[in-house]
Parts: sequence; C-alpha cells; structure tokens
Amino acid sequence: MSSMSVTQALMTRKSVRVYEDKPVPQPLLQEILELAGRSASGGNVQPWKVDVLTGDALNSMAQSVQGFIQQSGGKSEPEFPTYPSKLADPYHSRRGDCGELMYDALGIAREDKMNRIMQTMKNYNFFGAPVGIILSMDRDMGQPQCLDIGIYMQSIMLLAKERGLDTCPQVSWTVFPQPVREALGLGDDKKIMAGICLGYKAEGEAVNEISQERAALEDYISFHGF
Ligand SMILES: Cc1cc2nc3c(=O)[nH]c(=O)nc-3n(C[C@H](O)[C@H](O)[C@H](O)COP(=O)(O)O)c2cc1C
Repeated sequence: MSSMSVTQALMTRKSVRVYEDKPVPQPLLQEILELAGRSASGGNVQPWKVDVLTGDALNSMAQSVQGFIQQSGGKSEPEFPTYPSKLADPYHSRRGDCGELMYDALGIAREDKMNRIMQTMKNYNFFGAPVGIILSMDRDMGQPQCLDIGIYMQSIMLLAKERGLDTCPQVSWTVFPQPVREALGLGDDKKIMAGICLGYKAEGEAVNEISQERAALEDYISFHGF
C-alpha cells in the first residue's frame, strides 16, 4: 500500500469509466470493506447493506438488468428522482457541462443519441470493472441515513484510491431497482441506494482523464464570526 495522504487520495480520485481486465485480490477488497465499516453514521446505526459482485455473479446481474431495461423500453420505477424535476442553475449547467466533458472525451456528439444510450448502458455492467458494489438500506430509513450511505461510499472510494484502485460512484442502479433486487435476492423492504465500480483504471483512455471542475469556495461558503 502506498503512503498516500487523505489529501492526495481526495485530489487524485476521479470517476473511472474504463477498467483493465484484471481481478482485484480478495484480501485487498476485504481490507477496503473492513476499513470502510469504520465510517461515521448518525447514532452509529450503520444503515448500509453491501453486495459485492465479481465474475459470473456480476455478469449475471448485468445481463438481467440490461435485459430488463431493453424489455421495458427504458421505462422505470426509480427508487427516487435522480435530480429535482426542475434543476435550477448553477446546478443545471454544471450537470450539462459534466456530461459534455464526458461525451467529448468519448468522441460522442450531442445528436448521436444511439451512442449516448449505449454509453449510459455501460453503467449496467459497472463499466467493465472487475468488482461491482451495490449499496442498499432498509426502505423505512430516512434522509439522515442517506447521508450515512454517502459517507460510506466516499470511504470506499478513498480507501480504494490509496491502494492503487479506482472507482465510479453510480446512481444508475437506483433507476432500475427491481431487477437489481431480484438478482441479489433482496426483498422490496430494501432500497437500492447506489452502486460503485471498483478496479484498475485502463490507461490511455481519454474518458478516464477528464478533470471535472469544482466551484470556487466563495460560490457556496459563508464564514460566520471570523
Ligand atoms: C452519488 C453519485 C452518483 C453518481 N452516479 C453516476 C452514474 O450513475 N454514472 C456515472 O457515470 N457517474 C456517476 N457519478 C459520477 C459523477 O458524474 C462524478 O463524480 C462527477 O462528475 C465529478 O467527477 P469526478 O468524480 O471525476 O471528480 C456519480 C457520482 C455520485 C457522487
């Protein structure tokens, strides 16, 4: 393991969407997940349920979900709206810029709807990552527990980075939760909260090298009493 600082992990982590075909050693994965379990959560309830997939299990879920999407013509019953129906600026334009940067790097034009859909569908194969993680929680959990899930995700992403692995957080799985639950043997009482791709970054892929900008501190910070 490298001696990467939290700052370095935070600064170098970016969403990776093309992976090497190289397995992640199970002990390394185990270590990441054990450490991530140290994440803070309100009341220490630790609401996360974690399904970790690789190999046949991953491929089988990917196939079922992709099949479901094709059969349903993309119609879904999402766990929650991915964004507010009227996403206001600056959020709306940030979202647009984020997509454009990604599709530019992939060489997919705005009007090339088919290739955009194909690219989106890659979410449902964990972008070819050797390991896929699905995070869920009990359906009767509330918004504070969603925060806990986010914190847990960030722990996994930074711990992975520290170990030379890359990740991509994914809301996509929550858009088609039903076949995900079926594939994992989860009941309707479980809410699919997110996915995480995990593996070794493929080199020489422009889409893995994009730098999504961040707003300046002044845009959203108010210091009080300083
Ligand atoms: C909760 C969450 C859900 C996300 N869902 C997806 C997703 O479904 N598919 C995807 O390609 N990227 C997804 N992303 C990645 C974001 O697009 C990415 O984090 C953002 O553009 C910033 O880029 P960076 O991660 O490279 O710094 C998600 C990120 C977060 C935090």
